[in-house]
Amino acid sequence: MNIPIIPKNALLLGLFALIGTGILASIQHLSKDKIADNERQQLINKLNLVIAGDQYDNDIFRDRIYRSHPLLDENNTSTIYRVRFQGEPIALVLSVTAADGYNGEIKLLLCVDVNGVVKGVRPVRHKETPGLGDGIEPKKSDWIYQFANTSLSNMGKSAWAVKKNGGHFDALTGATITSRAVIRAVHKGLQYVQMEGSSLYTVASMGEEIK
Ligand SMILES: Cc1cc2nc3c(=O)[nH]c(=O)nc-3n(C[C@H](O)[C@H](O)[C@H](O)COP(=O)(O)O)c2cc1C
Repeated sequence: MNIPIIPKNALLLGLFALIGTGILASIQHLSKDKIADNERQQLINKLNLVIAGDQYDNDIFRDRIYRSHPLLDENNTSTIYRVRFQGEPIALVLSVTAADGYNGEIKLLLCVDVNGVVKGVRPVRHKETPGLGDGIEPKKSDWIYQFANTSLSNMGKSAWAVKKNGGHFDALTGATITSRAVIRAVHKGLQYVQMEGSSLYTVASMGEEIK
């Protein structure tokens, strides 16, 4: 059978489009896996900086829940990872977001132990100015370490501020706005943990899908 020339080209075009779509779909699938792997590794690396690997034995990446609350993030859903040893709760790792950084949102991981004490805070994503606000990164300055061992019970409400406002925390030099934003986000995260109590550990895990 003689296929007319135009439909033949159309057929070829269609075939190429199909192959192209297939290739794109596979790349997308592979990069989704890669992103999930990176996210898992980043979380474990950051967690290991604040809790030694031998202090927990659960798969924190799977043992997670999602919560939408302005104390955690004013715009997006947050992930809360549960850290356990032999089934007993050890700590929570919460993704919290300061909406009011100097250059927009500052995404943080806040690790709070079962007694409501901060084990550590680490920046995950931000656009603060190099040489000023980026001092929140532990590789740039020690500033972020100030939060270790703070809690709502050992520090009253007015202490959750920079020293120049009568609070407990040093400000990053030339980056008071960034400093205030991070202090506020950590304080709000702790308030959320206190408000929700032990339910954050007991509610069923929501698995490892990425929102
Ligand atoms: C180009 C430029 C970038 C800045 N980046 C930041 C920043 O990343 N974080 C920050 O807190 N302040 C930043 N500032 C400075 C703030 O405007 C403000 O002066 C600083 O937070 C100090 O606040 P203070 O006057 O209350 O001490 C920047 C200023 C300029 C001109």
